[in-house]
Amino acid sequence: MNSILTIISVLLVLSIGLLVYTVLKLREANLKIAKQTLILNSVQKLSRKMYQLENREFFFTEMWSILKQITDANEFTYFKFDGIDALIPEFVEGIYKEQILKSRLKIGEGFSGKVALDKTPQYLNGANKSSIAKHVPGTPNEDSALLAAPVIFNSELYGVILLTKLGGKSFNKEELNITEIFVNMASSLIAGSRLVSTIKSGFIDMLKTLITAVELKDTYTAGHSLRVSRISEIIAKNMGLPKNEVTKCKIGGLLHDIGKIGISEEILKKDTPITQDLLTEIFRHPELGYRLIKKLKTLEGVSETVLYHHEWYNGRGYPKGLKDGQIPISSRIVHVADAIDAMVSGRPHSKKKTLDETFSELVDFSGTQFDPKVVQTVLNSKDEVKSVYAEEIKETILDDEELFEVL
Ligand SMILES: [Fe+2]
Ligand SMILES: [Fe+2]
Repeated sequence: MNSILTIISVLLVLSIGLLVYTVLKLREANLKIAKQTLILNSVQKLSRKMYQLENREFFFTEMWSILKQITDANEFTYFKFDGIDALIPEFVEGIYKEQILKSRLKIGEGFSGKVALDKTPQYLNGANKSSIAKHVPGTPNEDSALLAAPVIFNSELYGVILLTKLGGKSFNKEELNITEIFVNMASSLIAGSRLVSTIKSGFIDMLKTLITAVELKDTYTAGHSLRVSRISEIIAKNMGLPKNEVTKCKIGGLLHDIGKIGISEEILKKDTPITQDLLTEIFRHPELGYRLIKKLKTLEGVSETVLYHHEWYNGRGYPKGLKDGQIPISSRIVHVADAIDAMVSGRPHSKKKTLDETFSELVDFSGTQFDPKVVQTVLNSKDEVKSVYAEEIKETILDDEELFEVL
């Protein structure tokens, strides 16, 4: 009887043990699933934000808030590689942010420098006791663990992401693998944003070259394009036009006379009265400009602004004789801005006018040559228009993010 009881007791203890073991395993499995779900959701969440190529800080903030949850790290640093031999902290989060931002590392120096050199993600527990890690000046010598991964794209080093744990915590292989997933996303983002800025600066250089080409050809237009652009922008903004129309006016103003590249210099610089034949030749410049711009995919949106910048409100302009609402609003605006600058700067056959004389001339031709709404806006914006002539306009007006929003 006793032996039966003993067997039952042993079996009972074994079953309870098995049950506890199963519950613990299930809990562990559940925790693992929960963690994996968190990682998957985070990757998905972060990848949706990757289109914001320019906002690197925003991406790192999001990335850090996820990695903090998953790895329980205390600090995040993105070291940017300067392209020569140094790692410079660009984005830092954590209690020693101030001190870390002042630090610099050479490639090969300290733990992050070593990771940059080896180009392999690694972690180092008990970093404060290791000779590899370099102590950040101004921070206590705490028990810490480091995990760093290089930001690499097409075998080119962009920087290093470093996670730090304080207070005796340590990293493990799983956390290294997870961090690597996020660092790979950061690599694509950083490489992408560098590509975008190369494209943007190439675009700005192209605009500057085009403008210079026209201005070299036609001496009377020195600075003219930049002023017409600025005045057109003022008018468009004060008319309350949407952002894309404002940008069209701005770029349309810059490039309105680009077609003059195709007109002979002799005609453009002629200081004797112009014959009808020569006028017909000059009248070709809006169409030439249109054809030129239309070929450039990024500028296609402003090709019509250029084509119609000499149309008159009453249909007596050129090249198509469009009237009123048939003429794009950006062209009607550039037309007025162009006329303002032509009057203020003077032309070979007409002497310079003061700004007040120019404004009254606009009124005289409002409803015939000029769109009355545009003229009225100029009259309401006299001080802003005058300010264009009070300061020297620099090409820096091109270095503007807005330029890229509609192109
Ligand atoms: Fe023109
Ligand atoms: Fe012009």
